[in-house]
Amino acid sequence: MYYKPSEILFGGDYNPDQWDDTVIEQDMRYFKEAGINLVILPVFSWAKLEPSEGVYSFEWLDQILDKIWENGIHFCLATPTVAQPAWLSKQYPEVLPVDISGRKRTHGMRVFFCYNSLKYRERAAAIAEEMAKRYGNHPGLAAWHVANEYGTYCYCENCQQKFRLWLKKRYGTVENLNDKWYNSFWGRTVYSFDEVYLPTELNDDYRFNPVRELDYQRFVTDSTLECFENEARVLRRYTPDVPVFSNISGHIKKLDQFKMVSKMDYAGFDNYPHPTDPRSLPAMKLDLMRGLKDGKSFLVAEQSPNQQNWQPYNKLKRPGEVRLLAYQGMAHGSDSALYFQMRQSLGGQEKFHGALISHAGTDDTRIFRELAQMGKELKGLGDTFLEGTCDAKVGFLFDWDNWWALELASGPTKDMDYLWQMHHYYRAFYEYNVPIDILRVTADFEKYKVLVAPLLYMMKEGVAQRLERFVERGGTLIATYMTGVTDENDRCVFGAYPGPLRKTMGLWVEETDALFPDEENEMILNSWMTQAYEKSSYGCTFLCDRLRLETAEPLAYYGKDFYAGEPCLTVNRLGSGKAYYLASQPEEAFVREFAEKICREQGVEPLFPSEGEIELTKRNGRSGEIWFALNHGKKPGYVDLGEKTYQDLLTGKRCTGKLVLESRDVAVLKREQ
Ligand code: GLA
Ligand code: ZN
Repeated sequence: MYYKPSEILFGGDYNPDQWDDTVIEQDMRYFKEAGINLVILPVFSWAKLEPSEGVYSFEWLDQILDKIWENGIHFCLATPTVAQPAWLSKQYPEVLPVDISGRKRTHGMRVFFCYNSLKYRERAAAIAEEMAKRYGNHPGLAAWHVANEYGTYCYCENCQQKFRLWLKKRYGTVENLNDKWYNSFWGRTVYSFDEVYLPTELNDDYRFNPVRELDYQRFVTDSTLECFENEARVLRRYTPDVPVFSNISGHIKKLDQFKMVSKMDYAGFDNYPHPTDPRSLPAMKLDLMRGLKDGKSFLVAEQSPNQQNWQPYNKLKRPGEVRLLAYQGMAHGSDSALYFQMRQSLGGQEKFHGALISHAGTDDTRIFRELAQMGKELKGLGDTFLEGTCDAKVGFLFDWDNWWALELASGPTKDMDYLWQMHHYYRAFYEYNVPIDILRVTADFEKYKVLVAPLLYMMKEGVAQRLERFVERGGTLIATYMTGVTDENDRCVFGAYPGPLRKTMGLWVEETDALFPDEENEMILNSWMTQAYEKSSYGCTFLCDRLRLETAEPLAYYGKDFYAGEPCLTVNRLGSGKAYYLASQPEEAFVREFAEKICREQGVEPLFPSEGEIELTKRNGRSGEIWFALNHGKKPGYVDLGEKTYQDLLTGKRCTGKLVLESRDVAVLKREQ
């Protein structure tokens, strides 16, 4: 790599084009005081850098970049292509997107262009090239940041044409398209690709066509990826060793990030948890970010140093919260603590968004002090855990096509929420403090002992066979309702669910009942399960599959309804492993105990015993194993380190036995020899 960071990247988005020289000089002093080592710029400066087509004005940026570098700060150069200049939209209206209602939109927003516009791509590549030529050899250049939070959906005529070409490439012939799309339903047969239109029905219209929408989402990902590569290609030509990435918006559903990130050197996540999110939710998303590059460390490319402006109620970050969230990112594999933004804008949409330097323009603020204090700590940590991996034995399967298709399906319930379902199960393992990897369905399952595949509705080619082999070789697989229902074209399996997993699960699903939101069934455990669990029965909600067991054994039965007494939790032994099937969604308390027992059975232990709302993770970094302990609770908690001695790299203290952590406090531990 061009620049191999020797420290955690600390800093973030900086928009100096909003400020005069005096303010910029002051910023440099503040940055140094806070320990900032990386800034990202100029994300939104296209209009200033290219005042008219092909006429560039980079001198102002030259000066700023030199100044940043003179102050010992690296920069991540952003191609400013997320907000095209007004002249571009005016001269070439094809650049502007058309929304789902067919409205041609006018200029004025960001991430507001047609991702298939050739004119957009031409001008974007041109300015990227101009930047690469000018700054490719600048010693301060650490990485390229392309555009910002891609994620526009466009429905223009140009996208329509391209969608047809995309379909032709995927399906070859209209006959095949008709077959794969199941177009015999509702007379949807087409005789030419030109008869296929973009899906402009709203999804809440019952008559929409889910598979067309699914393919459209795949198409948007592919087209957006082309947009990224259009610039990345140019940058890589000039600077083959400088990493290139784009940051991922918190609305991760919009684009298949496995695909997007496959062409990037880093996954860069914009981490904006809501104040009421359980701590396991950002943890899960962070694990997913690590999963995007199969376990490689990633960047938290943005987070908020204080309140946001775009939440309905914008809470201040409580004292210690900024630090806690930053360490949570690093604990799950981030090599950075980067923020939006360095200085608070005086005008515009985000004038009330928090920043390192607030409107008061001083370092004498609570947030500045908290961040500066953290800057010192991060410097002290050096490169100890950089590029560190997290060695997990529990894997969760995650898939964007599955997410889209599952939520596009009309029935069996309108409350289908893949991310929350995933989280319902993730949380239990997470709270048990065992490391978790989030895996693509094509990942290598070999090193895992437990695989959890919540609602793996879409069974892509080969996945079931690999899961079967995983179980046969001694792994434990947990599957749930809504598993093995369709193929990758969203056509239901002919024969019973869970389709190709039927043998592995040892059962088939006869029918699925959807529960009303306030309705609950009961899971009554069988007698030997009762001995192992705290209660003999637990609530279950959401969906209830009626199962037909083949080789599976029942572990629990429904307590209510006409299917009372029928199995709702089963295990199937296959080879030397086990496959559990949850036919309904058990209450959290059950999932927690279940996760613990499964882990114990497979010899997967929590990193340390602990008490309180303690999160524990481990990274194998440049200087060996590093443990993170974070107290998310309002009360003190502890970690039992046992007999070995560890050094807390944040305080320098040696610890052994019970390490008490105050509310929102963090420890970064290294074992003494
Ligand atoms: C996003 C964007 C930033 C900024 C922040 C505000 O993540 O990438 O430009 O708008 O949100 O929270
Ligand atoms: Zn378009």
